[in-house]
Amino acid sequence: MWVHMLFVASILLGKDAMWAVARFFEGYFFFGRSYPAVVSALAATILALLVLHAGIAMRRMPSSYRQWHAFRQHAAALRHTDTRLWRWQVVTGFALFFLASVHLYQMLVHPEAIGPYASSDRVWTGRMWPLYLVLLLAVEIHAGIGLYRLAAKWGWFGAAGSHDSRRRLRRFKTGLTGALLALGLLTLAAYVVIGYQHRDRAGERYVPDAAWLRGGGT
Ligand code: HEM
Repeated sequence: MWVHMLFVASILLGKDAMWAVARFFEGYFFFGRSYPAVVSALAATILALLVLHAGIAMRRMPSSYRQWHAFRQHAAALRHTDTRLWRWQVVTGFALFFLASVHLYQMLVHPEAIGPYASSDRVWTGRMWPLYLVLLLAVEIHAGIGLYRLAAKWGWFGAAGSHDSRRRLRRFKTGLTGALLALGLLTLAAYVVIGYQHRDRAGERYVPDAAWLRGGGT
């Protein structure tokens, strides 16, 4: 997700930069033409991993009112940070079932429509920005807590050692999540602005400014 964020954030470097990143994933710079099916294959793989991950993780979610009630009572009695984080993990994970599927399905069936104008039109004219906003929050919180929990479980960076090392790791995690959320919000704002400015010509594809990049466009 962090690498995905960096690629998507290329829009902050300019439309040509994002255009080049999108074409790169279609093999444009290797084969001299675009193969959007590569993007569909990537989206299908990630969708399969999402389903697998959800299937495995679901077993750990409280499944009845009685289990939820017991969990809430324990959480209230323990007042333990990691227990609270786990609850956030369940809530954001549940939201991701729905939010990520919508986005991945779009990428799967419209792989050719990724680019400075095509993406911005989807975000603004296609009204995807509300979904992306919630998806961004859910995915960054979920990934941050998930990695922190793995570190605590397997003792990475001495996380299993002491309260202090866990607290340090938690602070690092919160900082990282904050930085990625800031980058994500800035990126989303860039797509919203471009999409808004391009609203009357929605559907028109971007042709790069740089002569050496020209020769096709999305
Ligand atoms: C579990 C998998 C994924 C999640 C959770 C996810 C999440 C997101 C989020 C939150 C945004 C908004 C970014 C922002 O607010 O700054 C976004 C945008 C975007 N994502 Fe993904 N993404 C996933 C997989 C993919 C895949 C597989 C592709 C393409 C192969 C892709 C391509 C894009 C593109 C091009 C955008 C820019 C907007 C658009 O074109 O609609 N994503 N994604």
